[in-house]
Amino acid sequence: MAKTILSWLPLLCQLGTLQALSLDSLAGQSSIYYQQPGAELLLQQVEQLSPVSSLKLIVHGFLASRSHSSISPLRNAYAAQGYEHVLVADWSPAANLDYPSSRRAVQRVAVVLAKQLQLFLAKHSVPLDVVHVLGHSLGAHIAGRIGQHFNGSLGRITGLDPALPLFSSHSDDSLQAHAARFVDVIHTDYPVFGDLTPRGSVDFYPNFGHTPQPGCEELDLLTASKLILEAYSCSHNRAVSLYAESIGLPKSFPAIACSWKSIRSSSSCAEKLTDFNLNSTELDDTQLVYMGEQVARSATSYYYLETNAAPPYGQGMRAKFA
Ligand SMILES: *[C@@H]1O[C@H](CO)[C@@H](O)[C@H](O)[C@H]1NC(C)=O
Ligand SMILES: *[C@@H]1O[C@H](CO)[C@@H](O)[C@H](O)[C@H]1NC(C)=O
Repeated sequence: MAKTILSWLPLLCQLGTLQALSLDSLAGQSSIYYQQPGAELLLQQVEQLSPVSSLKLIVHGFLASRSHSSISPLRNAYAAQGYEHVLVADWSPAANLDYPSSRRAVQRVAVVLAKQLQLFLAKHSVPLDVVHVLGHSLGAHIAGRIGQHFNGSLGRITGLDPALPLFSSHSDDSLQAHAARFVDVIHTDYPVFGDLTPRGSVDFYPNFGHTPQPGCEELDLLTASKLILEAYSCSHNRAVSLYAESIGLPKSFPAIACSWKSIRSSSSCAEKLTDFNLNSTELDDTQLVYMGEQVARSATSYYYLETNAAPPYGQGMRAKFA
């Protein structure tokens, strides 16, 4: 028996190598596109650039692509608000495999994308601290690894429901708080495709970060019955919808500081929120922050908020303290 396994070993190793090689080549097909009204350019083709005071790079997740509905709310919201320099990564060749393979491609894809970004930034003299990388799901971890490539010196990374399956809190290739100068994370789909693990300078837990998010009850069941169809998961994609809403409505998502213990046990934070609603005068900046595009860079640790089942998702307009 042992002998049989031994004689298979070289073949297994070879298969492993081939697999790694083909993952390398699929990851190597990743690219970044520069968005212009009604058109897009490969990053390498951009020759002239108006002065850059802010630059966004959006990274999609598993089973998606640059034009996928899971990230289009971000593209649309930035376009609607007149953001000038918006880049969208496309790693669809490596994102449309079986999940374990796509997950294994995270580091490879991140290096390919980071190198393209680095050349672009150098060519157009864009300072690192104006760069903001946003990633959804597996894309959140890729964003984190892009940040690592720049040794944490990019301005900001936003993780939108970082992928849970096959990641632990300390996976080397996972999004981590030191990936950029400021890292904000939104959790919406624990324990299905997203996790609760704090991964940012600040972590937001809408409705305790759990599945199903309000309004997703039936859609999530549908997704679950079809197993790993992450790209269509309502609660998993809700992190993107919430963030996209905040781009146009920066005060849509007031959130209150809550302890990690309360977040994890889904307790106490809601009562605190109610109290804050009633006692609107006693608020200070450390206890209340706005989740999303305009989040205060001073925000740190854990925040709780509640959201609506349909757009506008934010309750900021209703809450007295907004
Ligand atoms: C990150 O740090 C390493 C080791 O110091 C260095 O070789 C590399 O060039 C740095 N990367 C960037 C993008 O600055
Ligand atoms: C305000 O906060 C205090 C102390 O946290 C609490 O006892 C009270 O019920 C809250 N609400 C109002 C309306 O004062």
